[in-house]
Amino acid sequence: MTDRVIAIADSGRAKPLPKMGVLRAAGPLADTLGRQIRDLRISVTDRCNFRCTYCMPKEVFGPDYAFLDRSKLLSFEEITRLARIFYSLGIEKVRLTGGEPLLRRNLERLIEMISSIGELDLTLTTNGSVLAKKARALRDAGLKRITVSLDSLDDRVFRAMNDADFPVAKVLEGIDVAHAVGLAPIKINMVVKRGVNEDSIVPMARHFRGSGHILRFIEFMDVGATNGWRMDDVVPSAEVIKMIDADRAIEPLDPNYEGEVAGRWRYKDGSGEIGVISSVTQAFCRTCTRARLSTEGMLYTCLFASSGYDLRSMIRSSATDAEIAATVAAIWRTRADRYSEIRTAETARERKVEMSYIGG
Ligand code: GTP
Ligand code: 5AD
Ligand code: SF4
Ligand code: SF4
Repeated sequence: MTDRVIAIADSGRAKPLPKMGVLRAAGPLADTLGRQIRDLRISVTDRCNFRCTYCMPKEVFGPDYAFLDRSKLLSFEEITRLARIFYSLGIEKVRLTGGEPLLRRNLERLIEMISSIGELDLTLTTNGSVLAKKARALRDAGLKRITVSLDSLDDRVFRAMNDADFPVAKVLEGIDVAHAVGLAPIKINMVVKRGVNEDSIVPMARHFRGSGHILRFIEFMDVGATNGWRMDDVVPSAEVIKMIDADRAIEPLDPNYEGEVAGRWRYKDGSGEIGVISSVTQAFCRTCTRARLSTEGMLYTCLFASSGYDLRSMIRSSATDAEIAATVAAIWRTRADRYSEIRTAETARERKVEMSYIGG
């Protein structure tokens, strides 16, 4: 069934699904570099109410931008079926992403459905814009913790970065409500861009120190093909660490688990923890255990992929769960991605799938 080339999807080219003959006997599901599959990141919508300049620049994602048609989106039943299949292959964590996942109607229902699959670390990354309204329902549906993106506490800087004139106060309110209903720990993601929000690093650290939330600084990355990435715009994590340490002493911590994306640091005075995500200056491909499922059911084995595998056509055919699982296993076993380790100025210019489509 599987050696045909599947129709090209809207935002990424489709690779031929592997032939059943490629399948091997069951065993730990590891790729060509020995990395086991552990996390599934599911994008539930390619839409967002923000236009962050590093992710969905307005010049590209304008009023005429063609987002995915409804009929192309995986239904909640289809997403849950695939999540169950990935669970049978050994995943331990599911992260819902987007676009902005809270824009997908009745997302609580999907959370309930995925929660019922089994012992999973189920979480979600949001821009926080409607979190105050939704936090309680998300928690009631089975969500355990949450990650909120926030790039500055300076309203002028934040409004310019989200390019939707969205105020800081509403995101902070969302974080407070999420905290109050017990979604914990809360992680805060701040993308740092040279000359744009460098001055917000220390104020953000001070604000979240002692709050119990974990602030993580993310190096600006060359995801997608539209954000005009240049190495000059990257603030290396080492620089961020220096700035924070000068303000209040910090020391490194061991990772919580092998392959953790963020490098962990704690304040020596016990006032909390921060993280740095250094995909550009210290690639972490060697321990990358993440598979990504797009809103329309394309499977990507790297955030920087330019093509993926069309699982939607399989689940909308007569394929059984066992056949789909065998296909996913065959894809994972042949995986050799290590984009961040081999990034060059040339690769940064290549056409890659957009982050709002593939999910952060
Ligand atoms: P937890 O440790 O479970 O909280 O998750 P996490 O550290 O994976 O957090 P999250 O999913 O919020 O990832 C944080 C950010 O790190 C993402 O939004 C991306 O910007 C970046 N990131 C995550 N996974 C990858 C990856 O596989 N490759 C690269 N290059 N960046 C990644
Ligand atoms: N570089 C680094 N991080 C990014 N994010 C989105 N685009 C980029 C980029 N180009 C982050 C968002 C959010 C998460 C989903 O990914 O800020 O925290
Ligand atoms: Fe939306 Fe998140 Fe992308 Fe910003 S980074 S445009 S909030 S999906
Ligand atoms: Fe994984 Fe690709 Fe990111 Fe490397 S660049 S950590 S292989 S997603």
